[in-house]
Amino acid sequence: MQFAQRLNVIGESVTLAVNAQAAQLRRQGIDVVSFGAGEPDFDTPASIKQIAIDALLAGKTKYEPTAGTPEARRAIVDKLAQFNKLAYSPEQVIVSAGGKHSLYLAMMAVLNTGDEVILPAPYWVSYPAMVKLAGGVPVMVRGRPEKDFKITPEQLAAAITPRTRMFIINSPSNPGGHTYHPHELAALAEVIAPHAGIWVCSDEIYERLIFGEQKTCSWAALDFTRWKDRTITCNCLSKTYAMTGWRIGYTAGPRPLIDAMNKLQSQMTSNITSFCMPAIVEALTNSTLEKEVEKMRSAFEKRGEYMWRRLNAIPGFSCVRPTGAFYAFTGIGGALGRPLGKSKAPAREAVEFCRRVLDEVHVALVPGNDFGFCDHVRLSFATSMENISKGLDRLEGFLKL
Ligand SMILES: Cc1ncc(COP(=O)(O)O)c(C=O)c1O
Repeated sequence: MQFAQRLNVIGESVTLAVNAQAAQLRRQGIDVVSFGAGEPDFDTPASIKQIAIDALLAGKTKYEPTAGTPEARRAIVDKLAQFNKLAYSPEQVIVSAGGKHSLYLAMMAVLNTGDEVILPAPYWVSYPAMVKLAGGVPVMVRGRPEKDFKITPEQLAAAITPRTRMFIINSPSNPGGHTYHPHELAALAEVIAPHAGIWVCSDEIYERLIFGEQKTCSWAALDFTRWKDRTITCNCLSKTYAMTGWRIGYTAGPRPLIDAMNKLQSQMTSNITSFCMPAIVEALTNSTLEKEVEKMRSAFEKRGEYMWRRLNAIPGFSCVRPTGAFYAFTGIGGALGRPLGKSKAPAREAVEFCRRVLDEVHVALVPGNDFGFCDHVRLSFATSMENISKGLDRLEGFLKL
């Protein structure tokens, strides 16, 4: 059977392959501890669910405006003003089917064939695929673990060419768990600013999950007058409100960009599910939900700290301390090439290492290959302390010399 050539530009995800293997072991009744989750292990707050149920029962089951209901867009505008210090109008906002769809539409709206997109590595697994599907060329800039994976202004400057059309920044980051401080963002902004043709796509979906004294800010808030016409601010409800399955994302940017995304979305998916629109208003305007958001954030912080300490105590592992999101991206270089597990056979890189760990001690890790680092693994701490402790005990056993 023949399929479209565009499929050839994107590869199979190794993450999915490891997940499939984990699922197969579970079907055999094996107790697998999974560190693979890219989603909160908490439930969506009850009031958000109730609003959607009420809307459904009240018959809110028909098409809605493509960019979102006026109420949903207003709630997003108010949130952006209050929380992010960004002065957008409702016409500068579009609601799409999750952060993923928001980002994809933005790339489809902006990129032409051969346009280069600068991606700090490690990067979220879908960025390169989206860039390629939109005809662009991903240009990786590798963050170093010694610098908490944050790229420097010098590295960014060296990656810019006349073909550069977009720079993607994700802070806090999946999978790095690192977060750029506003002054670090400002230093990167100074590099981009003179290049008027470069868009900045700021993926801020983990903005509420930051730990300790860490600070960050929206890229456009660095200087709204300077950046408002060049920044694509993407966000979603998925991680902050434990709503991954609802598929609610949004983008704010200059009106012509939002119009272009609207044009694309109107021919693709139309509006998001109609009875989810009131849930956006509830999530973003009911201030009592702050307690629930904070409960989840502080649980992630405690678990992240515990996981980070234990991972760094494992010989051969080294992990950058997570300052945001819910991932510990761990260097396994010191464990590769030496005897491992019962068989004492060595592993050469992360995919092989993850397969062995899953096979022998039933712990699911995500190999770093899909994120640009084949000597790293990603562990999500969006799972209970009990699971974290059990999984790390097993991992320690596997690595014991
Ligand atoms: C960095 C990053 N951006 C975007 C997304 C997509 O979010 P959503 O689930 O809302 O589509 C994810 C999901 O894991 C992510 O980690």
